[in-house]
Amino acid sequence: MPRKLVVGNWKMNGSLAANEALLGAIHAQLGAGSAAVSVAVAPPLVYVPQVSQWLAAHGSALALAVQDVSNQSVGAYTGDVAAVMAAEFGVTYAIVGHSERRKYQAEDDARIAQKAVAAQAAGLTAIVCLGETLEQRDAGAALQVVHAQLAAVLKHVDLDLTRLVVAYEPVWAIGTGRTATPEQAQEIHAAIRAQLRAQSPQAAEQTPLLYGGSMNAGNAAELLAQADIDGGLIGGAALKAPDFMAIVQAAE
Ligand code: G3P
Repeated sequence: MPRKLVVGNWKMNGSLAANEALLGAIHAQLGAGSAAVSVAVAPPLVYVPQVSQWLAAHGSALALAVQDVSNQSVGAYTGDVAAVMAAEFGVTYAIVGHSERRKYQAEDDARIAQKAVAAQAAGLTAIVCLGETLEQRDAGAALQVVHAQLAAVLKHVDLDLTRLVVAYEPVWAIGTGRTATPEQAQEIHAAIRAQLRAQSPQAAEQTPLLYGGSMNAGNAAELLAQADIDGGLIGGAALKAPDFMAIVQAAE
């Protein structure tokens, strides 16, 4: 059974002052941490040093994630940030292939697979995001789309299944308030687990499968009660400490 994981993806939100306030409010509730749930936050990259220093100074149980990493480790890649650089700031997770990067940065499956491997090569755990668009779901192609996205990552020879997290984020549920039903989410999560099991039965049982897409304090419990939903990748609700911690408590 995978350990539960809840990750707050702050996206392009925050400021030095707002980050301090949010971290303080989360820390006040999280304290020494949860016995059953790992909790991480993914600030905008420019704030990683601030958050890293804050977490260290407060002995926080929160883990630190980045929202993306380069598929390269060093060199002439203007604007990119290597996973090894993030690791120097205590980062332990790297989100890769978020649908917003697939959409706005034209990241394809091959590049996302390379990013996952680059993250793992730097000692990070890769959180690989998958998900179908509304058009693809309405066409009955959701399972097929997610299967193909995951297959592109699994076929990479250097992928380490022991340091992989998979996040199912139906694109039509992200930021819309239109959450997948527990049944819709469980169907896809079960298919992802089966696909992982075909690759490595042992690793599949230890790979956290996160749901993302308008998960909030009101619906987290029913989603997290599903057999193959092991946590959440949280956007909007991550920016409000009470809502974020309500999701963490629902994962307990
Ligand atoms: O990465 C998590 C994010 O895509 C989900 O966003 O605002 O729907 O929780 P939101």
